[in-house]
Amino acid sequence: MAVLIRALRAEDTPAVVDLYDRLAADGTGGPLSAAAWERFLGFEVNQGGVGFRVAEEDGRLIGLATSSLRSPEGTPLRHFRVLVDLTRRREGVGGRLLWAITELDQALEAVTLQTLCPEAWATGRRFVEALGFAVVEEELEMRCEEAPARRSRVVEGLRVEPVAEPSAVADAVAALHNLAYAEDISFVPFTAPGMAELLVDAELWVARLDGALVGYAHLEADRGATWIESIVVDPAAQGKGVGQALGDAVLRQILDRGHAARLQVSSVNAGARRLYARLGFTLVARTYRYRAPWVAVRAALAGRR
Ligand SMILES: CC(C)(COP(=O)(O)OP(=O)(O)OC[C@H]1O[C@@H](n2cnc3c(N)ncnc32)[C@H](O)[C@@H]1OP(=O)(O)O)[C@@H](O)C(=O)NCCC(=O)NCCS
Repeated sequence: MAVLIRALRAEDTPAVVDLYDRLAADGTGGPLSAAAWERFLGFEVNQGGVGFRVAEEDGRLIGLATSSLRSPEGTPLRHFRVLVDLTRRREGVGGRLLWAITELDQALEAVTLQTLCPEAWATGRRFVEALGFAVVEEELEMRCEEAPARRSRVVEGLRVEPVAEPSAVADAVAALHNLAYAEDISFVPFTAPGMAELLVDAELWVARLDGALVGYAHLEADRGATWIESIVVDPAAQGKGVGQALGDAVLRQILDRGHAARLQVSSVNAGARRLYARLGFTLVARTYRYRAPWVAVRAALAGRR
């Protein structure tokens, strides 16, 4: 039977969930509920899944490529992930899925392709390195199970507290996100409605300095742990101990509920790494951010066809 590469359809959800289950065997998939997949598809950044492709054979889904075009400023960037069934590797399916993804941007000039590959995903790293992708930064996963011995210093006029209704401050949070991460390699801007959607099931803490919202921490509970998705302090209020106080407050709250605290930080974000180290976080895993110019990947893939 021929392998067909086509756009993702709404009715593919059960087959996607099955594929993730099968991929748990080598640690590249894992449990995924239909609701979690649909929620992922609904994220603003995923543009409704228009850039998603599947590989189908005889009515069975054997591969999936997720992708979305992100163009903060400057060069447009397509972020992707390719997953191929364990029993169907090294047959060119991954290459065909990625080719289909590159087809989406034929009309654009100077697109960059990007993927995130955990250190443990040996096959993925070989796949992208064979296509000329290079590491531009590492995402470091850190964990903390014990509160720091000493409290952070007192900052005059600062209040750190949880927010009962995160959507009510989504506009201020989106603005802070866009301001604080603007220079980051992985920056994705948020609109206020996009941020409200992201925060639907989230726990949000804010830091107010003399009443003004100058920082926030976005937390997500996940099976006995709490992820600190983001800690942001307004660049104008940085260097005053706000980040330390915010981090300290949420960390103590997480540990008090019997959870471990987890987070990811970029290898190039020296300030945040220092803060997390001071709070007692230690490294548990690293993920490589790979990038390559669209033209180079197209040429490498075309050479295989
Ligand atoms: C990475 C992955 C998508 C590749 O899919 P695939 O269908 O096996 O890829 P292809 O058959 O198109 O491989 C293309 C080339 O990549 C390289 N490659 C892929 N897997 C490799 C491996 N395990 N070891 C060495 N090279 C490998 C080879 O150069 C291969 O060409 P060749 O088989 O002619 O030597 C698949 O292994 C997978 O699902 N891995 C888990 C998820 C993952 O790591 N995704 C990558 C993040 S985007």
